[in-house]
Amino acid sequence: MIYLDNSASTYIKPKEVIKAVNDSMLSYTANPGRSGHKASIKTALKVEETREKLAEHFNVESGQNVIFTYNCTQALNLAILGSVKTGGHVICTENEHNSVLRPLEYLKSLGKIDYSIAYQKNKLGITLDDILPLIKENTYMIICNHISNVNGSVADIKNIGKYSRDHNIIFLVDGAQSCGHIKVDMKESNIDYYTVAGHKGFYAPQSIGCLIMNDKYRPEPITFGGTGTNSLELYQPDIYPERLESGTISTPLIIGLGAGLDFVKDNFSEITNKIDDLTTYLNYELTKMGLTSYTEPENSFGVVAFNIKDLDSSEVADILNEKYDICVRGGFHCAPIKHKALGTLEQGAVRVSISYFNTFSEIQRLIYAVKHIYKACD
Ligand code: ALA
Repeated sequence: MIYLDNSASTYIKPKEVIKAVNDSMLSYTANPGRSGHKASIKTALKVEETREKLAEHFNVESGQNVIFTYNCTQALNLAILGSVKTGGHVICTENEHNSVLRPLEYLKSLGKIDYSIAYQKNKLGITLDDILPLIKENTYMIICNHISNVNGSVADIKNIGKYSRDHNIIFLVDGAQSCGHIKVDMKESNIDYYTVAGHKGFYAPQSIGCLIMNDKYRPEPITFGGTGTNSLELYQPDIYPERLESGTISTPLIIGLGAGLDFVKDNFSEITNKIDDLTTYLNYELTKMGLTSYTEPENSFGVVAFNIKDLDSSEVADILNEKYDICVRGGFHCAPIKHKALGTLEQGAVRVSISYFNTFSEIQRLIYAVKHIYKACD
């Protein structure tokens, strides 16, 4: 089987991640932060290691700025619902996933906020120019998908971040598709909140995400419960990360994320060069064949979306799966506005997503299969 659906979840995990998760099930099974005994403290210290590593990697003050969530969706919900300003206005982009659009639409349906969507004029991705005409006096947040999970467009977050900081607007970046692929310095890019999907570019197990916060803003909690601190109080504690992390956290997945982050940091150039080469090669071959590719050659971060003539994209994905043993994603990719912008609301798009563990020959076999499907519908 050839697996090319790594934007849904990376399939092959580094041996270092597998070992770390295995070890966690043997040595770090106490509840971190709920008791004062040595087993609990040992686990808590191990969890803190990952927190500190993430803080250092994204350049925020300390591990207290890292909130573990059960996925990137929950991190985005926390940032959006926890920052709501009644009567306020939010700007997001055509590239947003439903994990941004649905909470915004929910807040709008309650009459709490209004929001606008920025469409990209530049094919490569969203720029500040797309955002500026939408700014209103009551705009309190800009939400920007960093790399589109549909076609790999990349937003110019540095300029948007600078504008947001200068105008006291919260800047939230959805890093589901960029974490592990692009080195992000939150201070340099003036990002207030950045969200991580551990199971994608960091090769961690599923169901571990985080919200990383810079120094200026803090969302209100959206879940309440036990934190292991101030247990007699009926209020959430004021300290972080506890205030935003109620309930037992997932030690094995957090340790797995720490190992995935180490793996990516240790091999960053090799990983990004390989993904760039494979993406560029695939895109070039598809375009040469005369197919509609929705991915610009410069957006070479492992996501390539295309269609074969007017064939339904889900049908193409089914043929690739059943006849050629190749896994890709067809249909819609939880990003309805992006499909509208690309003109693929009817057909959807075949999305190929590449990881470091894919090979040149796997991409060649995909190209061969696509050529056959293309010729068969002549
Ligand atoms: N958001 C994930 C994807 O793009 C699941 O497939």
